[in-house]
Amino acid sequence: MADERWTVITGASSGIGAEMARVFAGRGAPLLLTARREDRLAALKAELSPSVRVETVALDLERPDGADRLVAAVEERGIVVHTLVNNAGFGFQGRFATLPYAEQAAMVELNVTSLTRLCRLVLPGLLERRRGGIINLASTASFQAVPFMAVYAATKAYVLSLSEALHEEARRSGVVVTAVCPGATATEFTKRADMETSKLFANAMDAATVARLAVEGYEAGRAVVITGAANAAMTLASRLVPRGLTRRAAAWLQR
Ligand SMILES: NC(=O)c1ccc[n+]([C@@H]2O[C@H](COP(=O)([O-])OP(=O)(O)OC[C@H]3O[C@@H](n4cnc5c(N)ncnc54)[C@H](OP(=O)(O)O)[C@@H]3O)[C@@H](O)[C@H]2O)c1
Repeated sequence: MADERWTVITGASSGIGAEMARVFAGRGAPLLLTARREDRLAALKAELSPSVRVETVALDLERPDGADRLVAAVEERGIVVHTLVNNAGFGFQGRFATLPYAEQAAMVELNVTSLTRLCRLVLPGLLERRRGGIINLASTASFQAVPFMAVYAATKAYVLSLSEALHEEARRSGVVVTAVCPGATATEFTKRADMETSKLFANAMDAATVARLAVEGYEAGRAVVITGAANAAMTLASRLVPRGLTRRAAAWLQR
């Protein structure tokens, strides 16, 4: 299986992760898909497996041993990873001082700790083989503080910073690390984040377009992919205007 371009996708049971699976399957890549909901993974496997080989592993990446268990499952199957997509993540809207700490800690565990551990476990092999890479899901929220979504935005700022640094460390190695920064995208994210009525999602992009742009950007060797012209313009503006203004605008949009 060493010559096959296996792609491991976390958070593949819905939204952007499921659409990334469809994009990679369209390129003939065998897939290892993971998330907690086994029934969703099985349905996606049934959809895609006529054309590509699909393995599924149901596990919880909020658990401290989640990333290690995933890599053990990859190794047990004799899979050599070509591309790792760290897509699993969630957000939660509300005031920092009153949101349950358990949710905030789980967000850090999944969006930051588990993602970092997976990068650390997979990157040495990629560098040794001098091919493939990692796609990390950051966000347009990575570019500024977001009041009323403080921990989520901070986790995504971390993902962007880490990914950009790894991209440079891997320069000229044949390995690409790409941070993907979607803006509002129509997925199940809004349900878990308690944002189903948020004005931010009024013109949300569709997950299939976001996934296609993400994979195309990774294949082009880009360090950062901001999905959609409006999102690119917004993040550029947030870097040009004073930080005080961007955080007050972000607070207004979240209210
Ligand atoms: N939608 C947006 O507007 C938006 C914008 C910017 C960035 N993003 C980022 O894009 C990524 C994908 O989100 P999405 O919008 O596609 O949301 P989604 O539809 O809710 O998908 C999230 C995925 O993560 C998985 N997941 C959640 N908790 C997990 C856990 N503890 N262990 C393992 N898997 C877990 C979910 O599967 P199970 O529930 O089955 O475990 C699901 O497959 C996230 O990192 C998100 O922060 C989204």
